[in-house]
Amino acid sequence: MTTNTLASETIVKDILPLNGTDHIEFYVGNAKQAAHFYQTAFGFKLVAYAGPETGVRDRASYVIQQEKVRLVLTTAINPDSEIAQHVHQHGDGVKVLALWVDDAEESFRGTVARGAKPAMEPKTITDEFGEVKVASIHTYGETIHTFVERKNYNGVFMPGYVERTSELMVEPVGLKYVDHCVGNVELGKMNDWVKFYEDVMGFKLLLTFDDEDISTEYSALMSKVVSNGNGYIKFPINEPAEGKKKSQIDEYLEFYRGPGVQHIAVATNDILHTVSELRRRGVEFLKVPEVYYEDLLERIGHIDEDMADLRKLNILVDRDDEGYLLQIFTKPVEDRPTVFYEIIQRKGAKSFGKGNFKALFEAIEREQALRGNL
Ligand code: FE2
Repeated sequence: MTTNTLASETIVKDILPLNGTDHIEFYVGNAKQAAHFYQTAFGFKLVAYAGPETGVRDRASYVIQQEKVRLVLTTAINPDSEIAQHVHQHGDGVKVLALWVDDAEESFRGTVARGAKPAMEPKTITDEFGEVKVASIHTYGETIHTFVERKNYNGVFMPGYVERTSELMVEPVGLKYVDHCVGNVELGKMNDWVKFYEDVMGFKLLLTFDDEDISTEYSALMSKVVSNGNGYIKFPINEPAEGKKKSQIDEYLEFYRGPGVQHIAVATNDILHTVSELRRRGVEFLKVPEVYYEDLLERIGHIDEDMADLRKLNILVDRDDEGYLLQIFTKPVEDRPTVFYEIIQRKGAKSFGKGNFKALFEAIEREQALRGNL
C-alpha cells in the first residue's frame, strides 16, 4: 500500500503584503515648533510641507525624515476641524500608522472584507511627480492605518506636499528605521486587538508577556506582540493588569483619554553614538538606578560594548537565544504622560528586552509618582 503525503512545507499566502512602515503622522498643537524640536533634538531633516501657502486650507503638515524613519507633524488651522478635536482630546499623539504596500486598493478591500472599519475609501492623488494611492482603516482608539502605494511616484513625499528644506544645520543621530510601534488598549481588550491583527491583517502572534513577566511591587501589565508576514512590522499591544497601584498603562489611558500609540521604537546601528548625541541635544531619558549595572555582565555574558559607556549613558542590555539587544527609553515627548520613544540596537536578538521590564517599569513608576499619578 502506498501512502501519499503532501509536501510538508506549505506555502502560506501573505494576505496583506507590507513593505514596511511608510510614515507615522502625529496630530500636534503646533506643528512648526514640533518640527523644530525633532530637527534639533532628534536630528531629523525637514523634507516636505503642506499648508495654507500650498493651497491646503485646514491644516499645516511638516514631513521630517532620518534614513527610513519618516514622521508627518500635522496641526489644525481651524478650531472645529477633526485635527483640533483630536489634539483637544488626546494632546499631541499618533493619528496614522501608515503602511507601505504595493496595492492600496486591494489592501483596503481585503481588510474591510475581513472586518476592518473603513476610515478613508481608496483614492488616487497626483502631481507632476506621478501618483500615490491611499486608503485607510481604523485600529485601536482613534488611530488609523493608511495603506500607501507609491510605486508610480518619485516626488519627495506625496502629492499635495511641496519639497521644503530648513536653514537649520543638523546632523542625523543615526536613527535608521522603525523597529516596532506599541499600542496601549483598555483592560480586557488586548486579545480583541491581537485577534484583529491576526484575522483582519494576517499578522502572527510572536510573543506573549503576562503579569508575572511584567510586574513590580505596585503595578502590572500584559503584552502580546504581533508581526506581519515578512516581520518588517511589529506591533506589541499592552493592556493594564490588576496591581496595588495605578499602572503606567492606566496612566496613559487616563491622560490620552483612551487607547493609542504608547511608544515608537527606532533602530540604530550605534546606540552609544545615537544616545550620546540625543543627550547632548537635550533629549531626556528614563533613568535606571546604578544597581542595574552591578551584576549586568553576569546576567548578560560578553558584549562588545564597554560597560562604563553603557552605565554613563544609562543604556540597558538584554539577551535572548539569538543574541543581545541594547535599548533606552525617552521620557514622554509631550506634557501629558503619553507618547515616548525607544532607541534600540539589535545584535542578533529579536525580542523586546523582557529582562529589563522590571527595572524600566520601576523607573517609570518613579516618574509617575513625581506626577502624582501612582
Ligand atoms: Fe518597545
